Amino acid sequence: MLRFVLFCLCLAPLGLFAQTDAAALAKEKACLGCHSIDQHTMSVPSYQKIAEKYRGDPAAVEYLSEKIRNGGKGVWGGGGRSLMPAFLNLSQSEIRLLVDWILSMKETPAQ
Ligand code: HEC
Repeated sequence: MLRFVLFCLCLAPLGLFAQTDAAALAKEKACLGCHSIDQHTMSVPSYQKIAEKYRGDPAAVEYLSEKIRNGGKGVWGGGGRSLMPAFLNLSQSEIRLLVDWILSMKETPAQ
């Protein structure tokens, strides 16, 4: 039992670290050069809008991971000309971290 409690105590801060790691990774991999967290445009979806669109979809993690790995276009408008580039250099766990981070975002209420 004590072991279990200690295990939980150690895991608790990991959630917080995951947030910062994902944000740092998104910056490092230039995701944030195109995407904004909350500024949605016709050509580049904000991460909050992406989260809103796919939240609750059981296939979302797999679908978005595949999308980040291989890139794509035509889902968010931009006349099909706005490209999401492929990121073949990301590991499976890096992609998962980014997807979980994006899907966890909540829309900030309009000011
Ligand atoms: C060159 C600009 C650019 C960069 C860099 C970029 N994206 Fe995108 N991303 C886009 C565009 C444009 C779209 C919309 C594509 C579409 O309409 O299908 C998109 C779409 C997405 C989507 C939603 C896909 C869907 O089908 O709904 C996710 C998730 C995403 N990007 C994550 C990322 C992540 C994570 C990174 C960094 C590893 C990244 N993007 C880097 C431009 C970019």
